[in-house]
Amino acid sequence: MQTVTHIADVRARVLAWRRAGERIAFVPTMGNLHAGHISLIELARRHGGRFIASIFVNPMQFGPNEDFTHYPRTPARDAEMLAAAGCDLMFMPDVGEMYAQGATPPTRVEVPEISTMLCGAFRPGHFDGVATVVAKLFNIVQPDVAIFGEKDFQQLVVIRRMAADLCFPITIIGAPTVREPDGLAMSSRNQYLAEAERAVAPAIHAALAEAASALATGAADLAALEHAGAARLAAQGMQVDYFTVRRRLDLEPPVPADRELVVLAAARLGKARLIDNLQVDRSAT
Ligand code: PAF
Repeated sequence: MQTVTHIADVRARVLAWRRAGERIAFVPTMGNLHAGHISLIELARRHGGRFIASIFVNPMQFGPNEDFTHYPRTPARDAEMLAAAGCDLMFMPDVGEMYAQGATPPTRVEVPEISTMLCGAFRPGHFDGVATVVAKLFNIVQPDVAIFGEKDFQQLVVIRRMAADLCFPITIIGAPTVREPDGLAMSSRNQYLAEAERAVAPAIHAALAEAASALATGAADLAALEHAGAARLAAQGMQVDYFTVRRRLDLEPPVPADRELVVLAAARLGKARLIDNLQVDRSAT
């Protein structure tokens, strides 16, 4: 595996592979890799050709009181894991390489509506930061295929829309969420949980599973499901940002004819903000 920190070096490598007729799969990450990331990488490898991963903790997607400074950074371990997973090129730029204009606010990519609902309402500007850095990475790497975890479902919807609207010739693939044995979705931010908090954190998955199962078997009162899910999390001491049923395509509240749904939750537990979701196909009623 080759490690590069400069955009020009990525471009040179990609050009050589393109000239040799090779396809390129890309997994953007913020590092601190865990089994969830490895599943994205395995999916990328199944698309054949060359595989590139980026590791960049993107300041633009963190709010002023968020964890940018403390976000876990483990570059040496990440490099080992990527090499073991068969990565061809690891791109690990610094902030100056990605945002060369320094303190001047960068050109932004904004995906309206989807970016300001749900997590966007609690983390203003977050999805503009994500859409902007992913658009930059797409222009640098120019992959055929890019893989994103379904755990960050809203992020996936934002990126799909951004890629479609800006005509990126890239297939966006969602990879299923990887869970701990007790159901907790894997996330770098799980490290922020104290022992007692870690013990109650799987309640998010349990509440989502209950709502998803009710929807799949015909429950029609979405407000009641949302209320019950939020109450279950609050009873565990969580501060619930939302527990909601949406349609998968655009995360708008579903109309009765919508079948492809997703139940999403976000809750704060101690120092961690946990998000999770489950997709469900509503039965025809
Ligand atoms: O999901 C992440 O790790 C990040 O939001 C991403 C997509 C790498 C953009 O910084």
